Amino acid sequence: IKTIGVLTSGGDAPGMNAAIRAVVRRAVGKGLTAKGILKGYEGLINEEIVDMGARDVSDIIGKGGTILLSARCAEMRTEEGLQQAAATCKKHGIQGLVVIGGDGSFAGAQKLANLGINTIGIPGTIDLDIACTEYTIGFDTAVNTAMEAIDKVRDTSTSHERVSIIEVMGRNAGYIALWCGIASGAEDVLLPEKYDYDEQQIINHIIETRKKGKKHHIIINAEGIGHSQAMAKRIEAATGIGTRATILGHMQRGGSPTCKDRMYATIMGAYAVDLLLQGKTKRVVAYKNGEFVDFDINEALSMKKSLSEYEVELAKSLSYNYVMRD
Ligand code: F6P
Repeated sequence: IKTIGVLTSGGDAPGMNAAIRAVVRRAVGKGLTAKGILKGYEGLINEEIVDMGARDVSDIIGKGGTILLSARCAEMRTEEGLQQAAATCKKHGIQGLVVIGGDGSFAGAQKLANLGINTIGIPGTIDLDIACTEYTIGFDTAVNTAMEAIDKVRDTSTSHERVSIIEVMGRNAGYIALWCGIASGAEDVLLPEKYDYDEQQIINHIIETRKKGKKHHIIINAEGIGHSQAMAKRIEAATGIGTRATILGHMQRGGSPTCKDRMYATIMGAYAVDLLLQGKTKRVVAYKNGEFVDFDINEALSMKKSLSEYEVELAKSLSYNYVMRD
């Protein structure tokens, strides 16, 4: 391998820049040529390719977003788009491609590998919803951002003795909600994987905590459940307690990455280049049981992952109402 390309695809995540920097510098340091592909697979299909040297990635490790820009590319799911993407790689001499993104992005990498391009995936998403790995780039920063925002909402919620529903991202996965729920001591955490849509239970819980003197009631709602505004209206009507919904939204995807995201993203970026140099292809870099490892993309995409039952139980059992049952 003489030339490698790197792209970021799907929703951006803090730490992607650290991974790009590591890919470029590891490659250049090993005597390879590095190329950046702009806007994910869209840029590969439309030939938006830039040369990248060590200096092009200076001063980006602490920056949120991705300097390569990102996109969700429907065309990559068509045969024509895929062929075009492979043709661009061949035209620009890109023999190895590092794809930083989620499962959808890995599916593209898998197909490109079948067309002769050596591909390595790096898990990059704030959602933590990639089955083969216990770490994804951006999750740590996102949960810290959300946790800080929840702490702030709690201040005003207490002053006004309100119920606050705070909706966090995560698509159909509840990892951000669960971590934020536990880390902020929320009274209720609504997880898409577990929610039984029994709103009456939540209403009863609010009434009970109020009777016990709680001045606020924080409900973390995962976006996979959604409808926070409507839920707030129904809860206010049923309890008579002022209820507000706050949807944290895209602020969770931005900001300077935490030390963990910079560090792990850096390791994963370098690891991906090392795999290509070893002649490996169609692999995903992962973090499992305290180690950085790699899996075949097919295997990675067929894996299943679920929330920790122990953590779900903790989120509930450490809430004030549960502990003070008498
Ligand atoms: O996958 C990351 C994520 O932020 C999800 O949590 C969310 O559902 C989705 O992306 C939002 O996508 P978009 O930025 O395209 O609206």
